[in-house]
Amino acid sequence: MRGISKMFPGVIANDRIDFSVERGTIHALVGENGAGKSTLMRILYGLYRPDEGEIFIEGKKAAIRNPQDAIRLGIGMVHQEFQLVPSLTVAENIVLGNEPLKSIWVDRKAEKESIIKLSKRFGLHVEQDLPIREVPVGVQQRVEILKLLYRKAQLLILDEPTAVLTPQEVDGLFDVLKRLVTEGHTIIFITHKLGEVMDICDKATVLRHGKLIGTVNVADSSSTELARMMVGEEVLRPSEERHPASKEAKLILDDISARGDRGLFALKHISFKVNAGEVVGIAGVEGNGQSELVEVLSGLREYEGMITLASVDLKTESIRFRRENGMAIIPESRKTQGLNLLGKVSENLIVNKYYQKPYSAKTGVLSWKRITEFAKELIVKYDIRADGPDAVAGTLSGGNAQKIILARELSSKPVALIAAHPTRGLDIAATQFVHHEILHMRAENVAVLIISADLDELITLSDRILVLFEGRIVGEVDARTVTHAQLGLLMAGLTDAVS
Ligand SMILES: Nc1ncnc2c1ncn2[C@@H]1O[C@H](COP(=O)(O)OP(=O)(O)OP(=O)(O)O)[C@@H](O)[C@H]1O
Ligand SMILES: [Mg+2]
Repeated sequence: MRGISKMFPGVIANDRIDFSVERGTIHALVGENGAGKSTLMRILYGLYRPDEGEIFIEGKKAAIRNPQDAIRLGIGMVHQEFQLVPSLTVAENIVLGNEPLKSIWVDRKAEKESIIKLSKRFGLHVEQDLPIREVPVGVQQRVEILKLLYRKAQLLILDEPTAVLTPQEVDGLFDVLKRLVTEGHTIIFITHKLGEVMDICDKATVLRHGKLIGTVNVADSSSTELARMMVGEEVLRPSEERHPASKEAKLILDDISARGDRGLFALKHISFKVNAGEVVGIAGVEGNGQSELVEVLSGLREYEGMITLASVDLKTESIRFRRENGMAIIPESRKTQGLNLLGKVSENLIVNKYYQKPYSAKTGVLSWKRITEFAKELIVKYDIRADGPDAVAGTLSGGNAQKIILARELSSKPVALIAAHPTRGLDIAATQFVHHEILHMRAENVAVLIISADLDELITLSDRILVLFEGRIVGEVDARTVTHAQLGLLMAGLTDAVS
């Protein structure tokens, strides 16, 4: 890609970027939230037309006007948000739009065989006949990759593929990627995790504020150098000074059981407390009840047992009641649960308090002036890169969309904060900022519950860590002394191994 530029209203997402990738390599594309990574790759995949610049494939100038052109040239992309059809099976999703035909009928036998062949060749195991909605995220991602390979993609663009994966799934994905490059495929890998760049990438290109900062050989570089290139300065760890948690329980779960989507118990007799000024972490391999726990706490799922927030029983209470009584929630899926993508940034920031003073008068008339002022403040404080309060939330980069939710929830002065994967998709600086804010809330006596797949994050932030396994709490450890290995064993259900 040579001299690529792309403007959006109020922002230069790509500013004369040169970017080249060699066949048979894994090439990392890194940079802070809003740096322009997804935009550059959407241009390569034909989803956006660049304002200027040219693209060459194997030395030949390529005209990529749409994804069909890109696919014809052997380019495929897996997006930050998957694009599968939930009601169709794994196999149907893989071949969708390219079904093998036998006269006028879809040849399901040929379809099966070619999928089996592909999945064997690259170690991408899937159960073909399950509907997509029933398979875990890690498998959905394999389906997305198979879909590209089925269309004969040579160059695979993966936009933050590890953000939604558990550590085990990440290992699995890396094995697949290594196999793909030994077979001559090429991979562009967008990530915020520099450890991953160091582990499996050959080269890394860094973008900052829409500009190319440079491309390095990973073997000759370090994560410190890459971090400095990304943020333009030395990255500092927040210093840690903690007062002990109080003994006053703010959030109490007493014998909670709840059924999952398929009717089986996903939470089984869970009891724990979170005290004021305490951070409790929930560790576990995805699918062991974490989602259901967050939904139960948020009032989105029925449960047995009792939950109290500052001594108020939440059983029959609405989501609004929970919020008004001091519960802040950072949901698992920012796109489907946390945001109205068609709404403005300001609307999304105010959605939990628009009906209160000073944003709304007794008559119910909204004060847009106050709302806009409030939104502007949060945009600055949380460094949300958007074209002002009126920008449509859905046009923000993945990480900046996440920051809207964080700004809204963290600024609501809660009694208890439930944070599910609070830094998923955030860059290093934003992650540190969120960690800092969470520790600040702890210091302000908020009871904090964090659910995360990132063990480092849990260890950094938590006082205590509880481990969920098959819907039960199978262990409680002190975050100051626990090791990754101990947590790993508990997460695998091996409770005897840790005393
Ligand atoms: N469709 C769009 N309309 C308006 N602005 C856009 C659009 N797509 C991207 N932008 C803006 O372009 C800039 C670059 O966004 P991009 O999505 O490329 O960032 P990114 O590097 O992928 O960030 P992240 O790590 O957060 O996903 C951002 O300021 C974003 O708000
Ligand atoms: Mg992006």
